Amino acid sequence: MIRMENVTKRYAEGAAPSVDNLTLEVPEGSTVALIGPSGCGKTTTMRMINRLIEPTEGRIFVNGEDVTQADPVQLRRHIGYVIQNVGLFPHMTIAENIAAVPNLLGWDQPRIRKRTEDLLDLVGLDPKEMLARYPRQLSGGQRQRIGVARALAADPAVLLMDEPFGAIDPIARARLQDEFRQILSRVRKTVVLVTHDLDEAIRLGDRIAIMKAGRIVQYDTPDAILSKPVDDFVSNFVGVDRAIKRLSLFSVADAALALPSANAKSSVAASLNLRDALSLMVAGNTDILAVTGEDGVVVGHLTREAIFSI
Ligand SMILES: Nc1ncnc2c1ncn2[C@@H]1O[C@H](COP(=O)(O)OP(=O)(O)OP(=O)(O)O)[C@@H](O)[C@H]1O
Ligand SMILES: [Mg+2]
Repeated sequence: MIRMENVTKRYAEGAAPSVDNLTLEVPEGSTVALIGPSGCGKTTTMRMINRLIEPTEGRIFVNGEDVTQADPVQLRRHIGYVIQNVGLFPHMTIAENIAAVPNLLGWDQPRIRKRTEDLLDLVGLDPKEMLARYPRQLSGGQRQRIGVARALAADPAVLLMDEPFGAIDPIARARLQDEFRQILSRVRKTVVLVTHDLDEAIRLGDRIAIMKAGRIVQYDTPDAILSKPVDDFVSNFVGVDRAIKRLSLFSVADAALALPSANAKSSVAASLNLRDALSLMVAGNTDILAVTGEDGVVVGHLTREAIFSI
């Protein structure tokens, strides 16, 4: 869906490249997280995809079309974009912000109104309260949700998101990430997500690209990034707790044995992730837990050994 071929960006002639001979392919319907230290070129990479920034060298294809040949204004109407630091139009109401692209595309007003209300519901905000307000009358986290709603408004197949949940507290952020994952499971989109937050990259990314100084150091599934970092830079970046982080990719059901055990004193839901299940074991000073299904009935058990061998 998105293919960048040997793309380089120099902001000034003779300057060191901000993006350096980068090649990246994002398969249709998948989410790729770009992550790396501040200044490594994440935003530059992303903004070349919708031509807010022109590459110095290389080629970029979106849906088979060479975007360097496309009309940038047309292009941007078909690519949703969530800007770092939100970037809502301050003089427009929330309703007008969300409707910006549908208006440009000439949708009729009843359709726009319905779409705007549906999107506010989707991001967990009350349309009655929000529609007539201005961005300055919202909290930072609410503004970020509007930014996400605006990017989804015209139902683009491609979505570029630059730290979309950065200004939201950790609990609301985890909830919004879950909501976003559910949105993506319902409406298939190709997403490039820039983030500073490794947990967010793991939670939302089908693949993660770790960047350093304008280059991609490793491009892999979250499991491979956490279990097989290619070098010291990646292993330092993902941290010494990478083995524990990796457990959050699996659920209790992935490691449970389908037999009840008389030794299990407390229980855990089959849908919980293994990182939290291990934490419950540590807290309860036990190495075996009963596993319960949706209705609370015991369906098996989970051992520490089973977690360690996943
Ligand atoms: N308009 C510009 N003119 C000159 N240099 C720029 C410009 N925009 C970015 N740069 C430089 O290019 C490099 C990459 O910047 P970029 O914004 O892509 O980084 P980033 O990875 O998104 O960082 P952050 O995590 O801080 O948002 C940085 O060294 C930055 O100073
Ligand atoms: Mg950036």
